[in-house]
Amino acid sequence: MRTIEWDEEREAVRLIDQTQLPRAYKIEVCERVEELIRAIKELKVRGAPALGVAGALGVVLACKNAATAEAIEIEKAVKQLENARPTAVNLSYGVNRAFNAAKRGETPEEMKIYALAEAKRIIDEDIAVNKKIGEYGSALLDDGDVVLTHCNAGRLACVDWGTALGVIRTAIMHGKRIEVIACETRPLNQGSRLTAWELMQDKIPVTLITDSMSAAVMRECKVDKVLVGADRVVKEGVINKIGTYMHAVVAKAHGIPFYVAAPISSFDLERSYKDVEIEQRSPRELIYCANVQLAPEEVKVYNPAFDFTPFELIAGVITEKGVLRSPPSPSTSPSY
Ligand code: MRU
Repeated sequence: MRTIEWDEEREAVRLIDQTQLPRAYKIEVCERVEELIRAIKELKVRGAPALGVAGALGVVLACKNAATAEAIEIEKAVKQLENARPTAVNLSYGVNRAFNAAKRGETPEEMKIYALAEAKRIIDEDIAVNKKIGEYGSALLDDGDVVLTHCNAGRLACVDWGTALGVIRTAIMHGKRIEVIACETRPLNQGSRLTAWELMQDKIPVTLITDSMSAAVMRECKVDKVLVGADRVVKEGVINKIGTYMHAVVAKAHGIPFYVAAPISSFDLERSYKDVEIEQRSPRELIYCANVQLAPEEVKVYNPAFDFTPFELIAGVITEKGVLRSPPSPSTSPSY
């Protein structure tokens, strides 16, 4: 099954519950927008492009359950969807595209039909865009490369195929031998739980390391390239999962090219990284792991979900339109 899709029969959103992986492969069905908002907040569906699709399908659910086309509950639901997670720009992109399409309808039923057609377009585009990113990106990989990645920018973060992992899949499809080093991505372990699982499903060689091992592994010359996804590309660089900046600094220190794979829908070049809200998550994510207490209950915790990497550290941003090698506005690049 795709990561997220529309269930025609039940008029509901079906998604792979990523909080259960790799222990169990479970499908979550959301018939109401409130259920989908909860699934987004709990990271049952996550990853920037998948969040864009979730946002669009959430608008469909909001229209489906509304009493009238003017119903303020549609607008309320749209706001709640947009704010479910603040950092990945794709969420508001998907919500707004579907909501603008829905506004062409005069009844909730018509609004639902327009929103659904737009959501389906976003789904199709996501797959096509991932394939193009894969083609441009695979040209940057050499036969025999070992690629370090962080978090999950694979098919689980999109509808299918993936951005960073889509590049690796495409390179392998073209006959290149590629091995992956997956960083576990504390605290929610998208690398160990999702990337390792996803690559193993496809029999792509993967070695798991802790995030703090990346410097030593790069110094040991075990990495040829670093390749990650993005939650938002801003005017000075890229916002992605916490830990990305650390890998970029270490890659620069060792002369290893650091690439970002991202669709244009993740671009927000008018905005500075300083004006983007970085999601702060619950202290519980650090104090507990799978309900086992790892730290004193009352310890002060800092838990930002994302960080910012300036363009100076990035060798190229791989998009569906090609590889951008120069920062859009170098004069605004911050020091790091
Ligand atoms: O908190 P998450 O799991 O939603 O964070 C996901 C990431 O940071 C990904 O690297 C990013 O969304 C790109 S996915 C193609």
